[in-house]
Formats: sequence, C-alpha cells, structure tokens
Amino acid sequence: MMLVDTHVHLQHAKYAGDLEAVLKRAAEAGVGKMVVASYDLPASREAVRLAGEVEGCYAAVGIHPHSAKDVTPEVMDELEALAAAPRVVAVGETGLDYHYMYSPREAQLAALEAHLALSERLDKPVIIHDREAHDDMLAALEGYPVDRLGGVWHCFSGDLSLAEKVMDKGWYLGIGGIVTFSKELAEIVRHLPLERIVLETDAPYLAPAPHRGQRNEPAWTAIIAARVAAIKEMDAAVVAQVTSANAAALFGI
Ligand code: NI
Repeated sequence: MMLVDTHVHLQHAKYAGDLEAVLKRAAEAGVGKMVVASYDLPASREAVRLAGEVEGCYAAVGIHPHSAKDVTPEVMDELEALAAAPRVVAVGETGLDYHYMYSPREAQLAALEAHLALSERLDKPVIIHDREAHDDMLAALEGYPVDRLGGVWHCFSGDLSLAEKVMDKGWYLGIGGIVTFSKELAEIVRHLPLERIVLETDAPYLAPAPHRGQRNEPAWTAIIAARVAAIKEMDAAVVAQVTSANAAALFGI
C-alpha cells in the first residue's frame, strides 16, 4: 500500500530539529511520495532544495494568500526560475483567504491571477487555498484550463454544493485531518467519487484525531486514508491505490 501526501510543509521551522525522523516515520507508514507546498519565497526555495535531495519529495512553488501583499513581479520571476528545477510539479499554494484577511482582498486577487498565469506558462497544475472566498475563487477560475493543467482545491472547507461545482469543473478535492473530526466534511466525502479525492496532511497544521493540537506529520496520511475508507465503507488499500493514482495523474509523479 502506497500513499501520497499531496500537501505538506516539510520546510517549516517546526521540522528543523528532526526532519529525518519525520521522513522515516512517513516511509514506515507507507507514504512513498510527498508534495512540499510553499507559502513564501524562502519556503519555495527550500521546497525545491528538499525535492532535489529527498527521495519521494516533489515541490510546489508559490506565495500563500496571507502573504499576497508581498507578491511583486520580481517575486513571480524568482518563482518561475525556481520552477525550472527538476521535481517541481505545481504552483502553490495560492488562492484567497477572507477569514484572516492578512493581505487586502485586492492584493489577494492580483496574486492569485499572477499565480494562475504562471501555472499556465509552466504547464503545471495549481494548488488552491480557499477560505471563506468561494464565490471570488470560482470567478477567478473561470477560463482557467483545468482540463489541460489539473488542479486541487486544497483543504476543502466548503459545502456539498461547492464540492459538486469543484468536481464538475474537473478539480480534485484535497482531503486532510479535518475529515477525522468534522461530520460535515465526512458527509461530503461520503458523497464524492473517490476518483476526485487526493489525500493531504497540510502538516505541521491540522493534525487528525487523535492527535489534534499536536504537530502534524506526513505519516498521518495513513490515518486520513483509514478515515476516508471507513466513511466510504471501502478497503483502505483501495483508498490508497485510487488516491495515489489521482495524485499521479494530477502532478505527474
Ligand atoms: Ni498548506
């Protein structure tokens, strides 16, 4: 059984002391591939370095909507240069976060547009972060060639109606630790075809039950897979196989 953690922040300072042990536990849990998602420029550089050095690691480069106010043409140029490295498989995470609003709405929309344009130029899929911004996000993605490039709605937090819209557009839904404690998300997962789901931890954030409040880690993708299997009354091996195939199709890994 091989699992893919499609969204993990291994470059985060919280792993500075014991990254090797974290990677070892991931391997032991069957997590054979990980996509290291980025949130600012140093994180993007570090993701590319990890992808070059660690077996099974791939990188996504991008600036989180929280930091959208820092996105300049120079920053986008450096992301584009970084994306030329081998094993850079996506642009992200990018998107809109109206919950925290750490960057003004206009800056978030402009940064999102720049990231979508970069993804088209690079011919690589995009990793979307959408928190309380569903309508603007759907509008921004009108015309985005998801059929050609693919894309994932990371840490999906909408309702069933949004899930269906996302799915009908050909996007994948990133399902993580929240599914272990949210009845609403469990209900959405029960309705969705497994063919539209990829697994992710978003570690070090959003640890699954029974580890809530702890530092999350990629090994716990296995807990998420088990929960999805229980919700859908499927064998965990089938969940692993189908979601890994989805990740392979999306990221070419
Ligand atoms: Ni994330």
